Amino acid sequence: MKVFVVTGATDGIGKAFIETCLEKTEIGKLRIIAIGRSKTKMDALLARELPENVELEGHCGDFSVLANIKKLVKSLKIDPFQINLIFHSMGILNPKKSKTNEGIEINFATSFLSRFYLTKLLFENQMIGGDSVLVNIAASSEKIPNYLKVNFANHEENDVRMGMAGHGQAQLANDLWVVEVAKRYHLSTIGIGPGIVKTNIRREIPNFFEYLIAPFFIFKTKTANEVSNELWNVIQNESPKKGNHRFYKDQKFFDGDPWILSEKNRKNLWNHTENKIKSI
Ligand SMILES: NC(=O)c1ccc[n+]([C@@H]2O[C@H](COP(=O)([O-])OP(=O)(O)OC[C@H]3O[C@@H](n4cnc5c(N)ncnc54)[C@H](OP(=O)(O)O)[C@@H]3O)[C@@H](O)[C@H]2O)c1
Repeated sequence: MKVFVVTGATDGIGKAFIETCLEKTEIGKLRIIAIGRSKTKMDALLARELPENVELEGHCGDFSVLANIKKLVKSLKIDPFQINLIFHSMGILNPKKSKTNEGIEINFATSFLSRFYLTKLLFENQMIGGDSVLVNIAASSEKIPNYLKVNFANHEENDVRMGMAGHGQAQLANDLWVVEVAKRYHLSTIGIGPGIVKTNIRREIPNFFEYLIAPFFIFKTKTANEVSNELWNVIQNESPKKGNHRFYKDQKFFDGDPWILSEKNRKNLWNHTENKIKSI
C-alpha cells in the first residue's frame, strides 16, 4: 500500500491534489493522510464517496503552532519508512503584522516552519526516508529578485520582518529548504512555483486590492485542479533521485537560482530555523 501525506488538504491546491489521487485508481491501494485546519472542511472531505482502493483519514488543527504538530505526529500510526509522498501545501498570505501564540511571525510559522517541523519529526520518527518524495508548493522561480534575498544568519533582522515581508521570507525559506532537506534527509524533493491559481489564498488581502490587480492576472490564472493534474504527472514521471532536488514552474524544470544553491545560505536558514524550534 502507498501512503501519501497532504498538508493544506482542506482547500486550494492540497485539496485538489487529493481529488486527483482519488481518480488514479491504477496506482493500487493508497492511504491518504489529510492535514488541514478547518474541521468543517475536513468533515466535508471525509464524507466523500471513495474509490475502493483508497483509505482517507483527516487530522485538523492550527499547525502554525508547533506544539500542535508535535501532538499530531504522536497520534499518527505509520510503519517505518512507509510514507511514499509528502505533499506540502499548507500556507497563508497574511499582510497584517501578526504572531502565533509561540511568538513567531504568522506567515513564516504557517507557510514554512510548520512544514519544516512536521517533516523533521516524521524523519526523526523514521516515517519518511527510504524512497519518500517531498513536494513543496511555494513560489519557486528561476531567478530570485535581490530585494527578496535575506540573510538568515541575521536573526534579529529576520524576526522583525512581518506581513508581506514575512510572506516573502517564508517563500524564500521554502526554496532553500527544498535543496537542503533533500541532502540532509536523503529525500527526492520537488519545489513548485504553481503560478497564479484560483484558490482562497488571498482571503486576507483587502477586496479593493484584489480588484486592482485582477486585470493583470485574469489570462494567467489556473484552477487548482489543472495544477494538481499537472503535478501528478510531474511526481510520477520526473521525481529526481534520492538526495536530489529539482524545481518546476510553467512546465519547465530548473536547478534553482545560484543564491538558493549556495551552501552558506542554506545552512544559515537551517540554523535559524532550528534555533526557532529550540526556543519553543
Ligand atoms: N494560489 C496561488 O496563486 C499560489 C501562488 C503561489 C504559491 N502558492 C502557495 O501554495 C500554497 C497553497 O496555497 P493555496 O492557493 O492552495 O491556498 P488555500 O486555498 O488558502 O489553501 C491553504 C491550505 O492551508 C491550510 N492552512 C492555512 N493555515 C493553516 C494553519 N494554521 N494550520 C493548518 N492548516 C492551515 C488551509 O486550511 P483551511 O482551509 O482548513 O483553513 C488550506 O487547507 C501556499 O503556501 C501558497 O503560498 C499559491
